[in-house]
Amino acid sequence: MLKMALGQMFRAGSIPPLRQAGYRPERGEALIVVRQHAPGTLSPMSMYGTWLRPLLFTQDPETVHHRAMAGMRLGLGAGPVRALAAQWTACTHPALHVQAFGCHFPGVVGLAAGFDKDGHAIDPLASLGFSHVEVGTVTGQGQSGNPLPRSFRLRFDRALINRMGFNNAGCERMAAYLRQRYDSVGSGPRRPRCPLGINLGKTKAVALDEALDDYRRSVQALAPFADYLVVNVSSPNTPGLRDLQSEAALRPLLRGVRAAVDAVTPGRALLLKIAPDLNDAGIDAAVDVALQEGCQGLICTNTTIARPRLATPWNRVEGIGAGGLSGAPLRHRSTQVLARVARRIDGRVPIIGVGGIESPEHVWEKIAHGASMVQIYTGFVYGGPAIVRRLHRGTLALLRRHKLRHISQAVGRSL
Ligand SMILES: Cc1cc2nc3c(=O)[nH]c(=O)nc-3n(C[C@H](O)[C@H](O)[C@H](O)COP(=O)(O)O)c2cc1C
Repeated sequence: MLKMALGQMFRAGSIPPLRQAGYRPERGEALIVVRQHAPGTLSPMSMYGTWLRPLLFTQDPETVHHRAMAGMRLGLGAGPVRALAAQWTACTHPALHVQAFGCHFPGVVGLAAGFDKDGHAIDPLASLGFSHVEVGTVTGQGQSGNPLPRSFRLRFDRALINRMGFNNAGCERMAAYLRQRYDSVGSGPRRPRCPLGINLGKTKAVALDEALDDYRRSVQALAPFADYLVVNVSSPNTPGLRDLQSEAALRPLLRGVRAAVDAVTPGRALLLKIAPDLNDAGIDAAVDVALQEGCQGLICTNTTIARPRLATPWNRVEGIGAGGLSGAPLRHRSTQVLARVARRIDGRVPIIGVGGIESPEHVWEKIAHGASMVQIYTGFVYGGPAIVRRLHRGTLALLRRHKLRHISQAVGRSL
């Protein structure tokens, strides 16, 4: 019995051999092997990969997500435990500290939107070493999202497909929760342990031509608590949302959101998160409109509706159906989009790079292609909580290898 259970655990959670995992030497891909600890020694990474991930991956992804959130809130909820964890994970080296959007970011690796939809685990997540936490996507009205199941693992590809559909309690509930715990920005000392981004989306039941009012409602409730706000028009899981990326729709939307932000919190940083599925002309237009309408940054990119060559059998991928693909297979495309955006922006505002990051080399790749900071989601699911520390330490090592003094000197070097 025990043997069978263990067998299932390992089959479910182990990362498959390199070829199955998508490594194709014939495509000229470089293989990066990172070993942090001698074989046989116990490290948080090896414990997660060997024991915890196999156990977690026997269960439905969304169930695991809720348990992980509950576990983090419980385990890292108590101040002293959180402080201890933070001491181990914190990125203390000033070479990786970033000044952007009017904030000080203690590191380059943040948590991408979608993990903490309602902002219930900001400090526990910050204590894992994230330099910032982006909560949401939050919508004007609370909504339950798409029917279950809506999140799927493609472990041969170290990827996820999701069609969550912005399940969240709504902007007023999030505001009430934040108000209980924190002061608004600049009004008092009770602030999250790291800069807080709040990612805003459109309520599904609200018509596209009324989207602006829905975003405004979220801005009015939440802007006082956010170090930066994000307009998300790039999720593939709300019907019609991505049509708001067209120039004709984006301009009035961003203009209206900008005005709403300035009415509540003048000058507060507003960012636009874009999809990797835009064509070149669409990317250029979105960047131009964002800059003209007063955005102070871009996030590249959200998940993709494309299905690039995957190691997962095609009938399984087809069986999963619609949704946004994230993780390793997204990395190349999201970096391409990032590079195009960076060339167009030409240093005028910072960019956050996100998509498929699993190693310090991937962090470096995003930074060299124009990102000032990065975010992870899927890499956190596959790599476990210690990945943040590993990424920061590895990036610092790369900085030294390139004989640079500060991470800002690496931004855009490969463009
Ligand atoms: C389960 C899941 C839910 C997500 N939800 C959101 C969301 O609500 N809003 C958003 O802007 N991005 C969302 N994302 C996209 C991520 O923020 C990120 O842009 C994308 O997954 C690429 O990064 P990754 O490859 O590191 O996962 C979600 C991703 C996943 C996997």
